Amino acid sequence: MLLKDKVCVITGAASLRSIGYATAELFAEHGAKVVVVDVLMDDVILAQIRSAIETQLKRPIDVHGFRCDISQADDCERLIQQVVALHGTLDCLVNSAGIVRSQGLLEIQPKDLELMFDINLKGAFYLCQSALRVFTERRTGTIVNLASLAAQRGGGLVGGSHYAASKGGVLSLTRSIAREFGHLGIRANAICPAMIQTPMLDGLSEERLAGIIEGIPLKRTGTTRETAGACLFLASDLSGFVTGATIDVNGGTHIH
Ligand SMILES: NC(=O)c1ccc[n+]([C@@H]2O[C@H](COP(=O)([O-])OP(=O)(O)OC[C@H]3O[C@@H](n4cnc5c(N)ncnc54)[C@H](O)[C@@H]3O)[C@@H](O)[C@H]2O)c1
Repeated sequence: MLLKDKVCVITGAASLRSIGYATAELFAEHGAKVVVVDVLMDDVILAQIRSAIETQLKRPIDVHGFRCDISQADDCERLIQQVVALHGTLDCLVNSAGIVRSQGLLEIQPKDLELMFDINLKGAFYLCQSALRVFTERRTGTIVNLASLAAQRGGGLVGGSHYAASKGGVLSLTRSIAREFGHLGIRANAICPAMIQTPMLDGLSEERLAGIIEGIPLKRTGTTRETAGACLFLASDLSGFVTGATIDVNGGTHIH
């Protein structure tokens, strides 16, 4: 058990097909007290998540759910306070909530850019700020931010330049946190996934998907479980001396 009794907040977990959900499942498997968060979270979705994880693990688990629109700083602060009121502490934040849009740069309207930045970049920023207030007091804590291959290669295989720019911001944010808070024993790392089988890939035609897979050295898409594995490594003491790092989970799509 790599996360025994650790209080872990995981955003973007509403869909059972999401990276957030797979991370919640794997963290629960490793003994974490899991808090699943999403703008879509409600009692029905929470019950589905609980049932899916308990069926998988064949034992009861400690899971709570909160609705939070991460683009709202007040929502983020309230969420972290609710978690601390519930569990008395916070050990780990995984920022997996996000949106993707496929648009050419010249088609992107100010409202498109605002929405992208409000959720993907500002949302991650607000949650990190709120979590860091707790971590700073406790002088420990880990942050795992889901960025994207799009931030590294300039535009995604799916997302447009606004998506790439928002995720580039997430990478810079993560490195800044690692530098500023390392002396307190707080770690922050990023994951750059690509072509993971989630609702984010639903818009791709079969031909486009086949063409993309042809260019992936491992010749397949990735699973949410494989992405969750990288989150587990970065959240746990296995990565105790790793901070400011970026882990690629892309099947070799971008070897650099
Ligand atoms: N799937 C991939 O191939 C891939 C590739 C690169 C990066 N990523 C990143 O990984 C993360 C997880 O992606 P996924 O594929 O699981 O996507 P997903 O669409 O399955 O999950 C994203 C979740 O974020 C939630 N969300 C959206 N806006 C929100 C808001 N304002 N507040 C709170 N929650 C909100 C959605 O409701 C959804 O449940 C994202 O940050 C994504 O950009 C995914």
